[in-house]
Amino acid sequence: MSLDELNMQIYGCKRCRLWQGAKHGVPGEGPLNAKVMLVGQNPGADEDETGRPFVGRAGKFLTKTLAEYGIKREDVFITNIVKHVSPENRKPFADEVAACLPYLRAQISIIKPKIIVLLGASAKDTPRMEGIEYFEVIHPSAAMRFTNMREKFRQQIAQLAKQLQQN
Ligand code: URA
Repeated sequence: MSLDELNMQIYGCKRCRLWQGAKHGVPGEGPLNAKVMLVGQNPGADEDETGRPFVGRAGKFLTKTLAEYGIKREDVFITNIVKHVSPENRKPFADEVAACLPYLRAQISIIKPKIIVLLGASAKDTPRMEGIEYFEVIHPSAAMRFTNMREKFRQQIAQLAKQLQQN
């Protein structure tokens, strides 16, 4: 399956209840040959509005921090473990994550990244595949809010940048 075909499936997805309150499915974006894939929780209000991942406050903070360590947003594939917004921005339920996982699995198979960055605890259910390095970091919205987490997040992104240079 191509990424375009997969995106079409995500736009029309009704595998769980979340589509009912959403304006857009948000598949994710980035180059087909991206070495790095970033996985967040699920779209928020700004992402639901635009159909693009990480474009709100947390996304801007993420993009800026990556750039500070020489990682261009345009070079990475950014997506979420769940592709629709949730009511009141609540954490997606386990059955919603399970229903959505085949999309992420397919995205990983198509993009074949070398490194997958898990943004926060909600991304921990990301499928593990042979030959891919997994890198857990603090979610940017937590890093944005708390000074101590921001510092730790910076260190983690610095470590990621270092690893990328060695790849
Ligand atoms: N937070 C996420 O986890 N994903 C987004 O796309 C935006 C905010």
